[in-house]
Amino acid sequence: MTGNEIRKAYLQFFKSKEHLILHSFPLIPENDPSLLLIGAGMAPLKPYFTGKLVPPSYRVTTSQKCIRTGDIDNVGRTARHHTFFEMLGNFSFGNYFKKEAISWAWEFLTEVLELDKSKLYVTIYPDDKEAYDYWHNMIGLADERIFKFDDNFWEIGEGPCGPDSEIFYDLGPERGCGQPTCNVGCDCDRYLEIWNLVFTQFNRTKDGKYEPLEKKNIDTGCGLERLASVIQQKESNFETDLIFPIIEKVIAISHGDYSDPQQKIAMKVIADHIRAITVMISDGILPSNEGRGYVLRRILRRAVRFGRLLGIRDMFLGSLVDTVMDILGDEYPELRERQELIKQIIDTEEKQFSATLAQGMELLNDMMSQSDNKVLSGDNVFKLYDTYGFPMELTEEIAGENGMTIDTDGFEAAMKEQQERARAARADVSAKVATPDTTKLDQSKLINDPSATKASIVMIGKGGVEVDAAQAGEEVTIIVDNNPFHAEGGGQLSDTGVLAGEKGKVQVTDAKALPNGLVYLIATVDEGTLQTGDTVDVTVHQTRHLNLARNHTATHLLQAALRKILGNHVNQAGSLVTPDHLRFDFTHFSPVTQAELDAIENLVNEEILKNIPVTIEEMPIDDAKEKGAMALFGEKYGDVVRVVSVDDFSCELCGGSHVDNTSVIGSFRITGESGTGSGVRRIEAVTGEAALAVAKAESRELQQLADLLKAKVGDTTAKLEALLAQAKGMEKELAQLKKEAAMSDMDSILAGKEDIGGVSVITAVAQADSMDNLRDLADSVLDKVGSGVVLLGMAHDDKVNFVCKVAKADVKRGLHAGKIIKAAAQAAGGNGGGRPDMAQAGGKEPEKLADALKAGADAVRDLLG
Ligand code: ALA
Repeated sequence: MTGNEIRKAYLQFFKSKEHLILHSFPLIPENDPSLLLIGAGMAPLKPYFTGKLVPPSYRVTTSQKCIRTGDIDNVGRTARHHTFFEMLGNFSFGNYFKKEAISWAWEFLTEVLELDKSKLYVTIYPDDKEAYDYWHNMIGLADERIFKFDDNFWEIGEGPCGPDSEIFYDLGPERGCGQPTCNVGCDCDRYLEIWNLVFTQFNRTKDGKYEPLEKKNIDTGCGLERLASVIQQKESNFETDLIFPIIEKVIAISHGDYSDPQQKIAMKVIADHIRAITVMISDGILPSNEGRGYVLRRILRRAVRFGRLLGIRDMFLGSLVDTVMDILGDEYPELRERQELIKQIIDTEEKQFSATLAQGMELLNDMMSQSDNKVLSGDNVFKLYDTYGFPMELTEEIAGENGMTIDTDGFEAAMKEQQERARAARADVSAKVATPDTTKLDQSKLINDPSATKASIVMIGKGGVEVDAAQAGEEVTIIVDNNPFHAEGGGQLSDTGVLAGEKGKVQVTDAKALPNGLVYLIATVDEGTLQTGDTVDVTVHQTRHLNLARNHTATHLLQAALRKILGNHVNQAGSLVTPDHLRFDFTHFSPVTQAELDAIENLVNEEILKNIPVTIEEMPIDDAKEKGAMALFGEKYGDVVRVVSVDDFSCELCGGSHVDNTSVIGSFRITGESGTGSGVRRIEAVTGEAALAVAKAESRELQQLADLLKAKVGDTTAKLEALLAQAKGMEKELAQLKKEAAMSDMDSILAGKEDIGGVSVITAVAQADSMDNLRDLADSVLDKVGSGVVLLGMAHDDKVNFVCKVAKADVKRGLHAGKIIKAAAQAAGGNGGGRPDMAQAGGKEPEKLADALKAGADAVRDLLG
């Protein structure tokens, strides 16, 4: 069976057991600040397990794209570790439990895949008698094939978790470590864990408590690549048809040898990493220095580095993407939709790293040469890792080549410190968005109505805990029954406003939405008290609301215009909509030219002037896709979506605030264009009054300019051009005049000629304004005289300069410009020297210039003897 056939067989098997097949969720977790990336089939389903959301079916099965980087150092060194893998899973949300999960797993493995029963073993949680009974009595597994381990308990971040039971396949003694203790649970490759059945009974809270769940669930995870390695009887996951075609391509590019152990590791790493890179980018992750983007960057750079170790000098990663598509593209069509973009992003990052690689190498060489002992400090290793993307092993390897080692403990400590900072930052985020548990509220009675002006207070929360009342000065979360505040989301900031009751007044500073759409307000009590049950007058700040709507609709127009002018490779990579301005990040691979910016700005303004109604409709996702609605790159949408359209110019899935008609935007001005990272550009713009203000400020500046130029506003350019041309002419003229002035000295200089021992000697004060001119003058003088010595001096400010030239014939008579000028310079408080035929020098005592020239003449005399 091919990998694709195994995946299909799994999903179909569970479909036959009444499971709904769901498409893999994107790698970016939705509304789960406790996770950076989806790393298990159950991770995107947490709200269904806890009962926060009603699942589309109580039995679900998926093949989930997963990223795990905890074991990244093992990738390529073991048969079974990956950064990207596909997890097959079947899930029960309060429906079936252990009995069915165990019997179906056994049925699938032994009857559908026909694995040899005698090679299967299981582990269970020691106290789990129930699981033991099912394995032993129902399935008939002998006692010695059931192992009990304390660590058979599964959890990921906050949320559902519980004891588990793992199924192992014995690959035979030849794959084992050979230790007498080798058995199920050994770290070696012999007993391969192929499936984990989790009996989800608890909810792990933020503060680490395990609360029993009302309903018991099933969460299972079966690694597709591992299963394929067993069925295809391959030495490791890497030789299965899910990965090996990539390795073949790497062999072709590097002309390498897969039987060489070091090369084999490098090839496996690259094949694993390019799968992760491709899938991550297609889900909207771009290389960056933080969060998911950093994970991607790290994997990508690691792959480039292993390419170097294989001797690949040219760019190569992007060329592997097509092979990844061949393997995964049918199951995950979102990959093919982004094929070209993925390659471009990889190319840009690979190119960029090639540059830092060189810089990092330079720094590393410096560090090694400055190190007093033979150990590179942990901080240095971390700096290379963190700033130049040097994996620790790379640094270690290079240090080793230079007879040095690295302080791995120090590196780990520095790394840990950084991780702690990241963890603390994540924890802060989740604490801030905390609202008390809302599941007890009757949500059918809570509505969002933009025109609401009165509401009652349904729930007040403080630090995530429900309270009855709040006093002046306290910051609280509030849920009202009739909510007019638009929550923040999709890059748009929220509405703000005021709640005024009989006993108190509250400033609403933010509004957030829970995954099910329930909006809660973040607010500070200004005066008096606020109590649950109070009726309040609600005011939304209208100017802010309207400006947000202007900027949001304009963002849609901008995105459409960018695609029309720059091309369809433009995809949203980030967006910020505030009342003052909008910021839009998008994929594009060179700076946007002024002409393109003009065209984009014009196009948006044309749509504004066309006075087009903006329509907002809710519809099934499939209808929206048919309509051509643009979805956000990597975003997960529900079955019913909100579609915002402007005629046939723009059509996007969006939950934000919008104007009713484009003309309300007023006008649109681009205020900035810049690059923010690999292949991502940023445009900043303003609309409405802010656009007018920009225009006003510019016209004021123009008026000032016109006043200074004494011209009319419309004539400033011509006038300025004329002035600049005039200035240029004047500069030229001035330079010429100076030269002429210097030359006009010539006559008086020549008049001072004396004869010393048969040699014509000229010493004179000149009027040059630069050393260049003084030299030119000396040349001209010597030309005119034909032979002899010329010594010129000039004074300026508090310095004096000399040039001396001696004709070739006179050098032969023993004269030496360097010696002559030395005598002169010393007489003027300086020093110097030079060649026999030409020298220049300086002194600090301009008042001694005449004496100095005399000293020069004396030196000529001395030299002639
Ligand atoms: N959630 C379980 C795991 O990932 C099945 O192993």
